[in-house]
This record gives sequence, structure tokens and C-alpha cells, in this order.
Amino acid sequence: MLLHADHLTIKFGGLTAVKDLDMQLNKGELVGLIGPNGAGKTTAFNMITGVYAPTQGKVLLEDKDITGKKSPTAPGMRPDQITALGVARTFQNIRLFTNLSVLDNVIIAHHLHLKSSLMGAVLRLPGYRREEKEMREKAIQVLKAVGLEKLYKEEAGNLAYGQQRRLEIARALATNPKLLLLDEPAAGMNPQEGEELMQFIEAIRKDFDLTILMIEHDMKVVMGICERIYVLDHGETIAQGTPNEIQTNSRVIEAYLGVDASA
Ligand SMILES: Nc1ncnc2c1ncn2[C@@H]1O[C@H](COP(=O)(O)OP(=O)(O)OP(=O)(O)O)[C@@H](O)[C@H]1O
Ligand SMILES: [Mg+2]
Repeated sequence: MLLHADHLTIKFGGLTAVKDLDMQLNKGELVGLIGPNGAGKTTAFNMITGVYAPTQGKVLLEDKDITGKKSPTAPGMRPDQITALGVARTFQNIRLFTNLSVLDNVIIAHHLHLKSSLMGAVLRLPGYRREEKEMREKAIQVLKAVGLEKLYKEEAGNLAYGQQRRLEIARALATNPKLLLLDEPAAGMNPQEGEELMQFIEAIRKDFDLTILMIEHDMKVVMGICERIYVLDHGETIAQGTPNEIQTNSRVIEAYLGVDASA
């Protein structure tokens, strides 16, 4: 098992955004996390990546406790430490430096997420310069993998929407993840782009030896590539299973359509 989100609960004031989420990901799996708006999906990602510390429960990566910190002085892991251990993510809203080149976006993501290299970068230490060369090579490698290598000099803001989404994934891949978390990668894509995205996700899973957890509203994408699916609604895990099981689950249908499916 690669990841165990072990009975995670998080409360924001009176709101329980995620309640008792118990999720296990096996190495190499491609798993979906779905549910209506506000169900707690992004919040689950934020707990796995250490942005939020759960109110209860813990996060284990290959049996190592990577649960986030409740405060800067509390025990637990910082997001950059979790990234360094092999957990990378993309964001629901694209977060690129639109004025920088495609290549610099990848290199900078690497710096920001792996803080250890920041001081070396500022002081231009010899170790850093070697690292910089390696980072450039790594950046080119991931840009090739996502099909953006020819656009490496282009300003990120000039890319088409689907290309920007791929660049976001390239940035995540540059940190050498074992686990990749994708937050609505197909958002805003047309059916054709969605289709291409599915093939692309399958390809990077294989090429980079990844385990992938994907939040997605596009059911064609989710049902098309996920091996297993977890369904959240109002913070609660209302179902888990194969795409077939999920599609015929009455609680899931009810949550999505707001009607009692058995009626
Ligand atoms: N930092 C926060 N403070 C207070 N409430 C929060 C915070 N983060 C999330 N929430 C609340 O937690 C709930 C779950 O939000 P979350 O963003 O995880 O939903 P989601 O499933 O990702 O929805 P969507 O599909 O719209 O992206 C929402 O009610 C949201 O308002
Ligand atoms: Mg969300």
C-alpha cells in the first residue's frame, strides 16, 4: 500500500468538511474521488498534502506518518517535506506564473516545493549550480512527457487552456512524485480534450510509475480510467467501489440527482 488516509476528519468551526475518511491506495492504482460541490474533495487533498492538519486521524505514506502540522511549532510535516517524500498535486484553479516561460514555470515549481534548494539558489553555491543543471534537464524531460517541449520558451499565459493544464501536471512531475493528486484535471475541457487527457493520464502513470488519485466531475473521464472510486457527500464517504458499482449505487445517484433513487 502506498497511501493510507487513516480515518481523517477535519472541522472548520462548526462545519465538518471531511468526516472519517478512510482511503487506501495501492501502488500503481488510478483511483477517483468524486462527489457534489462542497463534498470535501479538495479538503481531502489539502490534508494529504499537509496544507491542513486533520482534526482527527493521520496520513501514512508507505507506513510513514506524513500528517500535516496543526501550527508551525506543532509536530507533523510541512507541505514541502511531504512533496520531498513523493506527493505532488495540481490545483483546481490553474496556478501558473503567466509571465514566465513554460520552462521557468517547471523549474520554479521545483524550487518552491523543495525548499532545501532555495538558499543554495540565492547564494549560487556550487552544489546548487549542479542541481540547477539537473533541474533543467528534469524540466525538459517532463515537458517532453507532456508534449510541451517545443513550447518551452513560450510565456505560460499564451498557452491554450488544455496546454496550461498539462503544464501544471508537468510542474508536479518535476518533483519526482510517487503519488500524484489531480484536482479536476478535465475542468473546462471539451469532450475531445477530455478524451486526450484520459490517454495522457494513463501514459504518465505508466512512464513515471505513478499512483494517481483524481478528483473529477467529468463522469466520462472518471468512469473511463479509474479502477476504483470513492464518493464523498457533505464530507461523508457514501460509497466506494469499481466504476460499475458506483454507477448503480443508489446513495450515489441520490447524492448527485437529489432524489431518492429507490422511489
Ligand atoms: N479553509 C476553510 N475554512 C472554512 N471552510 C472551508 C475551508 N476549506 C473548505 N471549507 C469548506 O469545506 C467544504 C468542502 O470544501 P471543498 O473545497 O473540499 O469541496 P469540494 O468537494 O472540493 O467541492 P468542489 O467540487 O466545488 O471543488 C465546503 O463547505 C467549504 O466551504
Ligand atoms: Mg474542490
